[in-house]
Amino acid sequence: MTPDLTTTYLGLRLRSPIVASSSPLTGKLDSLLELEQHGIGAAVLPSLFEEQIEHEQIDVHELLEHATHSFGEAVTWFPELEDYATGPELYLEHLAQAKAALEIPVIASLNGASPGGWLRYARRCEEAGADALELNVYAVEADAEVSGAAVEARTAGLVREVREAVSIPLAVKVGPFYSAFAHMAAQLEAAGADGLVLFNRFLQPDIDLETLEISPWLALSTPAELRLPLRWIAILRGRVGLSLAGTSGVHDWEGALKLLLAGADIAMVASAALARGPAVVEDIVDGIRAWMTEREYESVEQLKGSMSQASCPDPAAFERGNYMRALVSYAPGAGTGSGISESR
Ligand SMILES: Cc1cc2nc3c(=O)[nH]c(=O)nc-3n(C[C@H](O)[C@H](O)[C@H](O)COP(=O)(O)O)c2cc1C
Repeated sequence: MTPDLTTTYLGLRLRSPIVASSSPLTGKLDSLLELEQHGIGAAVLPSLFEEQIEHEQIDVHELLEHATHSFGEAVTWFPELEDYATGPELYLEHLAQAKAALEIPVIASLNGASPGGWLRYARRCEEAGADALELNVYAVEADAEVSGAAVEARTAGLVREVREAVSIPLAVKVGPFYSAFAHMAAQLEAAGADGLVLFNRFLQPDIDLETLEISPWLALSTPAELRLPLRWIAILRGRVGLSLAGTSGVHDWEGALKLLLAGADIAMVASAALARGPAVVEDIVDGIRAWMTEREYESVEQLKGSMSQASCPDPAAFERGNYMRALVSYAPGAGTGSGISESR
């Protein structure tokens, strides 16, 4: 019997648990179609950024101001802000085109950190046909006056605002740097999120020793990065009622399958498809199907979460208990004994 690969994410029934996360590949219709042909269950469009929206508004306001001063009555014949084919407008156009061209659900993405007018684009995305919205709260909290509690409250406030503005399902993509992540997840659920996307990868600037400039650093992920979402998805499955998506480090079917076993509803792919092309999705889906067939799993729903902390025989493995054990049992090379005595 062929295993059933369908999964439910944010209340949407997806044909496959592999989803294309935000990347340049989802920003173009031809690569979106290719990703669909190769078996993704849904696609998340690249983010529309707070800065993009606010910047456009400032530009257009300046244009209007200028026109008003130059032509007196000009403002009466200037079109409304909404009529401009500006960055955000192009985004909505891409969204509408993607919806028309694809059969799978299309998820729009808004990226920002502070409350503001940009959030009204959540509603615009819904109106343009988005099946769901991903709110990416990407922030580097560098203000020594702002506490973690304040950051959490602000983030939950953003989610609440978007929740009130739209009726489509809402996922929130966050970074891992909250001191009590499980509590944060529960707060996001209380604020109205339907799902969490774990985790944002932060740009980590580098210093160029030749030019003494700070260079932005954007590298594709490595499979080792899977471990962070893997742990947190395993911990959260069963503790919150949210849909869970794993992103970061999914490069092969093994990685995707591990996320599902830990409790993810979907595994997201960006770097692997950027590096090896959309066909990598098919390898991942085929690999999962073959493993399930061999192990006689009938459906993805059946295996989802079977290795989560709540279900697995060694719950301590996901928490501090495993730390000491791992350190003590470390054996450099083929040798045995503790790393400390070996390195002396
Ligand atoms: C070139 C590039 C562009 C990206 N653009 C976005 C974006 O616009 N919004 C977003 O939420 N994530 C964006 N991401 C992050 C990915 O969606 C994904 O979460 C991250 O790369 C980790 O997954 P991966 O290991 O499969 O790459 C981008 C990643 C890359 C590599």
